[in-house]
Amino acid sequence: MKGKRVGIIGRGKIGSSLYEKFTGLGATIAFYYGRSEEVLFASTLRENGIDGVFLAIPTTDKGISAARYIETSVNAGIPIFTCEKGALAYHAHKFKKRLPEFGYSAAVGGGTMILPYLTQRMRGGKQEVTIRGVMNGTLNYIFDQVSRGVTLGAASSEAERLGFAEPGATNVLSLINGELADVSMKACVLHNVALSHEEVITPDVLDTSYLSDEELEAIGEPGSGYRLVISFTKRLKKEDSDAIHVFSHATGEGWYIQGQFVRANGSSRYAWLPVGVENVLVVEEGKLGIDGRYRLYGDGAGAGPTTSAMINEFASWKK
Ligand SMILES: NC(=O)c1ccc[n+]([C@@H]2O[C@H](COP(=O)([O-])OP(=O)(O)OC[C@H]3O[C@@H](n4cnc5c(N)ncnc54)[C@H](OP(=O)(O)O)[C@@H]3O)[C@@H](O)[C@H]2O)c1
Repeated sequence: MKGKRVGIIGRGKIGSSLYEKFTGLGATIAFYYGRSEEVLFASTLRENGIDGVFLAIPTTDKGISAARYIETSVNAGIPIFTCEKGALAYHAHKFKKRLPEFGYSAAVGGGTMILPYLTQRMRGGKQEVTIRGVMNGTLNYIFDQVSRGVTLGAASSEAERLGFAEPGATNVLSLINGELADVSMKACVLHNVALSHEEVITPDVLDTSYLSDEELEAIGEPGSGYRLVISFTKRLKKEDSDAIHVFSHATGEGWYIQGQFVRANGSSRYAWLPVGVENVLVVEEGKLGIDGRYRLYGDGAGAGPTTSAMINEFASWKK
């Protein structure tokens, strides 16, 4: 990284980790912006010699600021690497044809590289395919702990303490529902980036059902064994009878997208579920999986894995 000049937007958990890593790698930090410096961005980019911009801001505005940063940067011909998902969930219509111009591997799955993996697997087009996954490390961590007998309150505080949770939660219900908003964005990003030809969807069409206090109490009962699973299928599959619906949508290009809390305890059907903060993607290709079953596991949250994915993407970037 010696000789590279990079800019970082966001000085929180991810931004500060990027700062530390780039400094350690010998890169020059050309700028390190917080919210109040957004107005300077376009003029800063006109200065010579910025090799890459790193975007690490939260989605508090349905991705409007993030989309603006991405557009400004790609229009200036400077690659930008984002771990924010609102831009590709709510504004994908602007970026669908410009995906090769910026990096977004860390927007879903932290360091797991789910998006490039799935894009590659889907390249040939598939008639029959079932994709299932866990794409929110925080919820997986919390409900994995709960399935082992830890209380929901203790598991949630620990997830916050470890820095996994999205910013802004004020209590357990708002934490969990905030993560559901995160998952619905990720489902859209995955669809928009890796599955659809032209169609883009936004979280508005998923119409996410947020949990009530009573539902949270039921699925948060220690040992109850619920986990949030997202699926993308070419045929509508029946929900488990004891599943709790979170979202579902049928796209114009023939994908059925479902998010549901399933009761996984002791069921061999869900033996593939990851532990802790891990994410997983399970892809079954061909009728009844005749063309193979593939699994990708990895750390789905945390500053270390997320920033490594962003830096790796930059290091292997080809114009
Ligand atoms: N933490 C993780 O494990 C993880 C994993 C994968 C992806 N992500 C994603 O990474 C992003 C950042 O997460 P984080 O945990 O680092 O958040 P964070 O700790 O809350 O930090 C957010 C930072 O963004 C800045 N910011 C907000 N709006 C801005 C704007 N318009 N222009 C410039 N700076 C702005 C804030 O600046 P001020 O202080 O000036 O308000 C703050 O420094 C989120 O989109 C999150 O979903 C996080």
